[in-house]
Amino acid sequence: MILPNLKEAKQRTNREVIIKTNEYHVEEELKKIGLHKKYFLKTYGCQMNEHDSENIKAILEEMSFTETNIMEDADFILLNTCAIRENAHNKVFGMVGRMKHLRETKPDLITGICGCMAQEETIVEEIMKKYKWLDIVFGTHNIHRLPQILKEKIKKQKQEIEVFSIEGDIVENIPVKRDSKYKAWINIMYGCDKFCTYCIVPYTRGKQRSRPPEFILNEVTELVKEGYQEVTLLGQNVNAYGKDLHIEYNMANLLEDVAKTGIARIRFVTSHPWDFTEEMIEIIKKYDNIMPYIHLPLQSGSNRILKLMGRRYTKESYLELYKKLKEALPYSSITTDIIVGFPGEKEEDFEETLEVVKACQYDSAFTFIFSARVGTPAAQMEDTISLKEKEKRLYQLNELVNEYAKKANDKYLGKIVPVLIEGVSEKNSTMMMGYTDTMKLVNVKNADDFIGKIVNVKITDVKTWSLDGELVVD
Ligand code: 5AD
Ligand code: SF4
Repeated sequence: MILPNLKEAKQRTNREVIIKTNEYHVEEELKKIGLHKKYFLKTYGCQMNEHDSENIKAILEEMSFTETNIMEDADFILLNTCAIRENAHNKVFGMVGRMKHLRETKPDLITGICGCMAQEETIVEEIMKKYKWLDIVFGTHNIHRLPQILKEKIKKQKQEIEVFSIEGDIVENIPVKRDSKYKAWINIMYGCDKFCTYCIVPYTRGKQRSRPPEFILNEVTELVKEGYQEVTLLGQNVNAYGKDLHIEYNMANLLEDVAKTGIARIRFVTSHPWDFTEEMIEIIKKYDNIMPYIHLPLQSGSNRILKLMGRRYTKESYLELYKKLKEALPYSSITTDIIVGFPGEKEEDFEETLEVVKACQYDSAFTFIFSARVGTPAAQMEDTISLKEKEKRLYQLNELVNEYAKKANDKYLGKIVPVLIEGVSEKNSTMMMGYTDTMKLVNVKNADDFIGKIVNVKITDVKTWSLDGELVVD
């Protein structure tokens, strides 16, 4: 049993990151343990977690498990969890309740929790006290160890917890079962060293570790050969890519090299305004296959709150960067993340956030009420704002965000835009769905034969969060 440790998770040393190319392995005796057994994997949270789940699926399938989308049919239920806000916690424990119920009728059922919540000391303590029947718990640094963790559980028939609280290395040989045949996520870096005062990520995912460029470029080249159209380069703070490598190579260099592979579409998330360089803007402008879509988290428009958040930029420098981006890439769409109700946020601070939203007129924004995360500095700050007030601010902010989202979408009416068709629309089964280069969701008529292709679509109707269109036949 290896338990998480917050103090160790916080630590940052100069120890060099080790690239491990042989770390993941499945012993022969484990290759058949999932035979005639099904797994159900539910993923919470960000794209990083979605991509980790693609690794977990491949690992389980190397052990002969097959996937099911029906929890009740599964022999192994695993929740890949998110720790970013309290509501994710509540959702997970709601599911855990359902799992307990299933276990009562199915004694051989294996249950487990992994991901960011598993990295939290308090969560694992809670599991050990109240959920002794949960079979396995493993952290974000332990994914490649899943076969061995399952083996231990089966051998010992007791709760198996393995959560490393380490700065982290890079394990390169974990298999992947991608959810899509057309678009792929690629980790370019792991962890984060920014330590924004509200954020749990630097504790749950370790220190910033950039993957060496050759591994990333090989992965993209392979995907191009397999017919993939789009890659999204993933990291908590992708603009800082390369800073920890001991070579002269940065995010602009990586973007350029990925662009040169010829893949049709390149996206990248998430950007921290602090590390966004002019060199990057030039490269985005230069290559048509780098998509004109930028997610640029603001968090707050008040300099006082930005300072308390440890964000390292001011409202003025953010607006200057925003202006530069829009001048260089006028067609681009820009989205953001905003937190309301950070400890000590006064009405006038909130008003400043609204002012920035008005100035930027974002294409869309993810908005959140501050959630205190155990172990982070912001959780120690005095929080005097009532929940009612926070909800009021969130509502007011969302009204404004929605207004600009609709306004941004309105500009698309009658235009012809490129869309990568992904499959049947969830909203309307007679239509296909896909995304524009600027990341707008489009429901498309007459595109049934074009799944996996980038086609021209004429926009015929505009909503706040999506567009409708029809295929343009040349
Ligand atoms: N409370 C509320 N929102 C948070 N985020 C991160 N941590 C917290 C927290 N403790 C938001 C930020 C970040 C996004 C992924 O989640 O806006 O950009
Ligand atoms: Fe969290 Fe800040 Fe790192 Fe983003 S940059 S993951 S908000 S600490």
